[in-house]
Amino acid sequence: MKHKTSIVTGSYGAIGKAIAEGLAAKNYRVVLIGRDQARLKEAAEDVVNKTGNDKIEFSAVDLCRKSEVEAFAKNWDGPLHLLINNAATTPRSREETPEGIEMQFATNVLGYFWMIKYMHSYMEGQDDSRIVNVASYWAGGLDLKDVETREGFYDNDDVYRKCKQADRMLSVAFAERLREKNITVLGCHPGDARSKLSTSLGHGGWESPAKGADTPVWCATAPELKGETGKYYEHRAEVECRFAADKQAVEKLFAICERY
Ligand SMILES: NC(=O)c1ccc[n+]([C@@H]2O[C@H](COP(=O)([O-])OP(=O)(O)OC[C@H]3O[C@@H](n4cnc5c(N)ncnc54)[C@H](OP(=O)(O)O)[C@@H]3O)[C@@H](O)[C@H]2O)c1
Repeated sequence: MKHKTSIVTGSYGAIGKAIAEGLAAKNYRVVLIGRDQARLKEAAEDVVNKTGNDKIEFSAVDLCRKSEVEAFAKNWDGPLHLLINNAATTPRSREETPEGIEMQFATNVLGYFWMIKYMHSYMEGQDDSRIVNVASYWAGGLDLKDVETREGFYDNDDVYRKCKQADRMLSVAFAERLREKNITVLGCHPGDARSKLSTSLGHGGWESPAKGADTPVWCATAPELKGETGKYYEHRAEVECRFAADKQAVEKLFAICERY
């Protein structure tokens, strides 16, 4: 197979790295994205050593900053077959980006939104291009009147759940918009792996990173999921997404994200 090109965000994290390894083992060219150049380099070298696939590249992008995502997209050369949005952060107290956006909403929601917005044009016109948004079953409570937790109390786990709900809603919103361009957009729960993120939420995690990567890689590559746009999966099984039904809320969230 000629190498298909993929992007994995948060790719030196626990699950992101395992996703990158899974795709490399399936002969994809993988571009790792994260914000720390040294850790990206180390992760890329490790993926090459583990899989024998030398088509592994990396690029430092701070996904909470629209200008960095836009610049990355502008410099992108060639087609893109697969985008896996996986990066996330869960600071214990409320933080803001240099642009003054609450950090979890900026990274975990707008980071996904901007990557799709600015990269999808490279995915058009192909036989089977896919976007996989790594979300979670641990999701809910989103308040569309206060997406940046400016008024409500900031609890990192509550805000994380809101962001993961938003990721699932954005999967549906983009699926509708990109259907005609033949781009399949899927949401999924990965697995419960011990990571910086899960530890910061106090969840621990009992599955291996490889197990955590299993469903995202399956969503990205399983032939039977071609064209199944807008669906949400947990442990390789389709689950009806309770956030997808409220189309008005989905469109409202999309409009909010567009304003940033
Ligand atoms: N672990 C679980 O049990 C679990 C369960 C359900 C869903 N998930 C989902 O799985 C995904 C991966 O989580 P994980 O458990 O593997 O967490 P992780 O190990 O903490 O990985 C998250 C990655 O995102 C990166 N990141 C954070 N902010 C960024 C930014 N502004 N720009 C670029 N990269 C950034 C982190 O880099 P830094 O180290 O530099 O911050 C890290 O590499 C997340 O979307 C999470 O919601 C995880």
